[in-house]
Amino acid sequence: MLLVAAALGLVGLARAQGGSQPHFAEQNGRHALIVDGAPFLILGGQCMNSSAWPVALPEVWSAIDRMHANTLEAPVYWEQFEPEPGRFDPSLVDTLIQQARAHGVRLVLLWFGTWKNGSSHYIPLWMKRDPGLYPKLTGKDGRLVDSPSPIAQATLEADIRAFRALMRHLKSCDSAHTVILVQVENESGAWGSVRDYSPAAQAMFEQPVPAELPRALGLTPPAGANWQTVFGKDADEFFHAWSVARFVGAVAAAGKKEYPLPMYANAALRDPISPGPAGTYESGGPTDNVLAIWKAAAPAIDVLAPDIYQSDSARYRKVLDLYARPDNPLFVPETLANAEYARFLFCALDKGAVAWTPFGVDRSPGADVSPVGARSEEDPFAQVSANYRLIGPIMREVARLNFDGRLQAVAEEPGGPMESREFGGWKAVVSYGVSHMGHNRAPQGNPKPVGRALIAQLGDGEFLVTGYFCQVDFVPADPASKARREFVRVEAGTYQNGVFRVDRIWNGDQTDWGLNFNAAPLILRARIGAY
Ligand code: DGJ
Repeated sequence: MLLVAAALGLVGLARAQGGSQPHFAEQNGRHALIVDGAPFLILGGQCMNSSAWPVALPEVWSAIDRMHANTLEAPVYWEQFEPEPGRFDPSLVDTLIQQARAHGVRLVLLWFGTWKNGSSHYIPLWMKRDPGLYPKLTGKDGRLVDSPSPIAQATLEADIRAFRALMRHLKSCDSAHTVILVQVENESGAWGSVRDYSPAAQAMFEQPVPAELPRALGLTPPAGANWQTVFGKDADEFFHAWSVARFVGAVAAAGKKEYPLPMYANAALRDPISPGPAGTYESGGPTDNVLAIWKAAAPAIDVLAPDIYQSDSARYRKVLDLYARPDNPLFVPETLANAEYARFLFCALDKGAVAWTPFGVDRSPGADVSPVGARSEEDPFAQVSANYRLIGPIMREVARLNFDGRLQAVAEEPGGPMESREFGGWKAVVSYGVSHMGHNRAPQGNPKPVGRALIAQLGDGEFLVTGYFCQVDFVPADPASKARREFVRVEAGTYQNGVFRVDRIWNGDQTDWGLNFNAAPLILRARIGAY
């Protein structure tokens, strides 16, 4: 048993246990979200925007339960939380926490504060009635834009006061850490203008760039150089990114003083391959070109997180590459969920993801229009549910193995029926659309690209293997090797509290041609030898 625990890396847990407060940990440029003292993988779901109300929650919970999700992402609405200046109503938050506990699910709370999708539609009514004090930004043509000005001091102070009240409340009522993370604002930035061109913002724009920014970016401009001089054609956008990030970072820092939960900011992405100019995407949010600015301006934000609605896999994979960084855990707080997109969970895990969360889980199956405009399928979340059913029971092991750099995962691409990954002396070969006992027939690919596999090295010649709609085999990594693989022992089962329980031993037709994964959830531990 000790051996098994050691093989899983569980012995290393002692390193991670720093008390029960959720936090991020980093080792060798890899990241883990530590919850209850151990790496935790968020297999989540986000509800629709107006669903964190008691009347709508039954639908949300039935979707979360059906999906086997372990975490719900749900908004906290500033307009509801602070109906009058300084009077806070935590009743919806309390309901969420109580119901999450009853469902055995964790929460990520989304602070719909000053920004929601670039606008400020969730600020309380008493703020909307005073646009002089809480202004929108001014476009280049002098017209107001439906986006809050990030340099408005009164808005910042009001947001800080409300967010502090929220964090204080969480601290007082959630010693169990049902809430594990908080998103600060929602897709901050501006649509419709690259920056604020109000006289006050213009005056700041003409001031010297704050010295810490060029320093953080490794630039050495002349002392006192302004934004235009230092950043040229990017000056407007970078100024807005800095201003928004300073605001969001200040809100996060104030909240953490009350209660230091990990915090992230989510991004409405720009096209990761051919982005076009600022203004064609949301300007000032944590898009891939300004991540370093955000890191410098908002150190209290632990993670810059991509909302991935990219509709093709090259772009999806590129976004994962851009946001998985030694200084930034990969955290996907919103994404698409239909049958073909479910496989991208595996791509995200391959990049070390700590969270993957489709949006709009409570939209009804068969609804005409999905939140992103595509027609819904029968059950748009069926393949996400299949993923969570498979990985949910082993999420602690998966998170630990990933943190330790021992896990790789792949997902099928149309026209790519075979791929491989190296693990020391072995190469795992994954084939899609190959007949069960057909190692001598070329893999065809699945009719739709739904194949996915996860492989982790547990020890010397010992692997955890799982997936759907694929075959996994192993060959010596050295192409010159004449050795051939032998499955010494293949066990099917699952983990319970870190210990692998064997249901049966696989052999014969089940292993002679490789390990076959179809639509059934299956976890294998394979010991491989060579002859
Ligand atoms: C991204 C936003 O962050 C969500 O709140 C939601 O509006 C989705 N877009 C689309 O429905």
